Amino acid sequence: MTANDRERRLMPGDATRRYLAALRERGPLDVRWDRAPTRHKRYPEAARVTLPWRTTAEPSPEALAGALLRELLGFDRLVWLHQLDEEGAAAGGAPMLVLGRPAPSGGALYPIEAYVALAGGLYHYDPVHHVLELVRGGDHRPVSGLPEAGGVLVLTAVFWRSMFKYGDFGYRLMCQETGVLLAQAQAAGARLGIGVRAHLGLREADLECVLGLDGRREAVMAALSLTFPCNDGGPGEPVHGERARPSSPPPLPLVGGPAALLHRSTATTGEPGPLPEPWTLPEPPEPPLPLGARHQLPDATPVPQVRVSRTSPPAGYQPVPLPLADLAAILAAARAPHPGGLPEATVTIYLLALRVDGLPPAAYRYHPATTTLTSVGPPDPPPGPLHANTRAALRTAAAALIPVGDPLAAVEQVGDRWYRLQQIAAGASIHRAALAAFALGRAARIHSDGANDATDQVLGLAGTPFRSLSLLLLGTPLTRGPSLVRDLTSQGGDQPPARAPATNP
Ligand SMILES: Cc1cc2nc3c(=O)[nH]c(=O)nc-3n(C[C@H](O)[C@H](O)[C@H](O)COP(=O)(O)O)c2cc1C
Repeated sequence: MTANDRERRLMPGDATRRYLAALRERGPLDVRWDRAPTRHKRYPEAARVTLPWRTTAEPSPEALAGALLRELLGFDRLVWLHQLDEEGAAAGGAPMLVLGRPAPSGGALYPIEAYVALAGGLYHYDPVHHVLELVRGGDHRPVSGLPEAGGVLVLTAVFWRSMFKYGDFGYRLMCQETGVLLAQAQAAGARLGIGVRAHLGLREADLECVLGLDGRREAVMAALSLTFPCNDGGPGEPVHGERARPSSPPPLPLVGGPAALLHRSTATTGEPGPLPEPWTLPEPPEPPLPLGARHQLPDATPVPQVRVSRTSPPAGYQPVPLPLADLAAILAAARAPHPGGLPEATVTIYLLALRVDGLPPAAYRYHPATTTLTSVGPPDPPPGPLHANTRAALRTAAAALIPVGDPLAAVEQVGDRWYRLQQIAAGASIHRAALAAFALGRAARIHSDGANDATDQVLGLAGTPFRSLSLLLLGTPLTRGPSLVRDLTSQGGDQPPARAPATNP
């Protein structure tokens, strides 16, 4: 029997179960830095469209798409970094000046690439030079499956870029990171006047064919349709010419194993077309009394999405309480509608309140319809196994926001593709919360190691099919050194950035 035959015999959910078991059993990381691929892709011989660095009075679709791409993947910050140990203490060594990107990425490996189909052609975004590289001439929007869109933005994952370090766990990170970028695109699009809609029900294999990807080294994770506030150029010329060639050597393909099997299953068992509607999912069970006390949150004022220098301290915050109104706004942002029409209960938001004004320290479940929190357990931060920087950050953080979901809840409806959809939803939820936190002058950082059995125990989820999917720490940024962040992008003419350089740890 061939490997393909064996795969055909798998039932929906089997690939997810195998992957989850492999993650539970995985040992410490054995990182081979000499096998690390480059951190971005290029098409060296392709024709280029130089993108403007500043907003122009009459922007073209190319300029607007470029502005959006820069807010997703561009190099937009200079970070003057003093070297710290795992717990955030000065480790000596020369300070470094590093380039920062707008959205967070697991291990700062940035495995997600972006392509955009506009009337004039299909382009790859090169963040280093802030240019569009022409992958192939002609209007690819009709063949992308989204013919009505002014532009089609496709996010792909270069598997090896994350998996050379994290192995199978990298697949989970890349799914969450796709969600992070969907949330970032929606926020940036709102600010730039670009309508952004995520499509999670498309057949990725068709898009990979359009992009010339083999689906093993680099594969499509999500597509977004863009609506521009200017003329999108109408129907362009038919697709023509050869596809440009990417630089070599190519990244290594997905190695056989649970992540490769899950990826193939998420791609092939998913029905093309829209996700099932109406679609309800089970919610986590309510805790028994005496737990379950309800706390009403103040009305959440929507947080304006302005561009901010991000603050994501790796190991600590000012140990000061978070105002309840800020928490209410951050929770509301986390629970905004999911991308791609996913049902409400794709993820449920839980909270570990450590220092919040007017809220007793405890573990809570958030109920968005009534804007209430019900206590589900004692306040103990999860005992571990946690990385040293997570333990250090927990000592001073104000709260931890935890998306929770049942990884097998909808395998009947959408097969193993559910795993990917739920992880995307989890990534989008926490990033919306992080953006709201930044807009309120707070800091936030994802600590993936915080999603573990101990956390599930604290949240009262042990014995249920629900699991913590990630953990976002929230707090108030430290106001003293040791790193300086300089925003490289400018929102106003040729003036230098108006804001003084922000400091963070
Ligand atoms: C899906 C995901 C998982 C992450 N997991 C962790 C983590 O476990 N621990 C941590 O310190 N940072 C984590 N991060 C944050 C990244 O390490 C961080 O974004 C990256 O180092 C770049 O730094 P910056 O966000 O300050 O730009 C994660 C980010 C993402 C998107």
